[in-house]
Amino acid sequence: MRYAYVNGRFCRHGDAAIHIEDRGFQFADAVYEVWSVRNSQLMDADGHFSRLSRSLGELRIPEPRTRPALERVICELLRRNRLRNGLVYLQISRGQARRDHAFPKTPITPTIVLTCKRLDFVAADARAEAGIAVITVPDQRWARCDIKTVNLLPNVLAKQAAQEAGAVEAWQVDAAGFITEGSSTNAWIVTKAGKLLTRQADHGILHGITRARILECAQKLGLEVEERAFTPQEAREAREAFLTSATSFVTPVVSIDNHVIANGQPGSLASALREAYLAEA
Ligand code: PDD
Repeated sequence: MRYAYVNGRFCRHGDAAIHIEDRGFQFADAVYEVWSVRNSQLMDADGHFSRLSRSLGELRIPEPRTRPALERVICELLRRNRLRNGLVYLQISRGQARRDHAFPKTPITPTIVLTCKRLDFVAADARAEAGIAVITVPDQRWARCDIKTVNLLPNVLAKQAAQEAGAVEAWQVDAAGFITEGSSTNAWIVTKAGKLLTRQADHGILHGITRARILECAQKLGLEVEERAFTPQEAREAREAFLTSATSFVTPVVSIDNHVIANGQPGSLASALREAYLAEA
């Protein structure tokens, strides 16, 4: 049996429900977080909890639970689902109210939903060993991609376009011609000179928790790093390319828009960073 948690109660996953006038459902007026779970432990717990607080703060949604309270619920959810390896998904919306665009005048209680699902990390390892293909698509999102909201329609369309093109991820390109990030991952390249590049953490990208951890790993490995935007052409001409996220860790990219990167094999820095990250996790 699979369990979910909704507004203070554990229930069967199939019976879990929220109100039709929930503002998350009506307006995407909600934030979310995703933690990987490895050997029953939340990965990068601190980073994801801090970003959750920041996202809620940016949208002026009151924090409905303390971190220890949320951790207790997550722990129980994992226990009930007998989940040791996979991910935890948390969504908090502003709450339920009559449908009017502005915030409700009288305070409402935020809606909390927690689910978890198993992931096959062995298959993910195999994918990382082979490397993946990405395509580029125009970035059609709003101007505050640093807030982790459930407003993900452009990301959904980008990922679908990638799958229909036989690729795994779509790297979005802003109006100035620079790659922002993937539909659910941050984008990285290694230049011919061996410098690691990833876009600066501005409002154009989600400030990936894995991204921050990989920057630390790179520093420990003594790699030269620059946080700046790069173009699809720089990516095609790169020595290596890879992406990062909570669930894919570090995954090498071996082609961009059907253009093979370097020799078409996962790069050595991407593989070293994946190893270093997982060794510390
Ligand atoms: N995605 N960029 C976007 C747009 C994302 O949605 C994500 C995460 C990332 C990587 O962030 P992090 O390293 O903190 O996971 C970057 C999650 C996993 C998801 O939507 O399922």
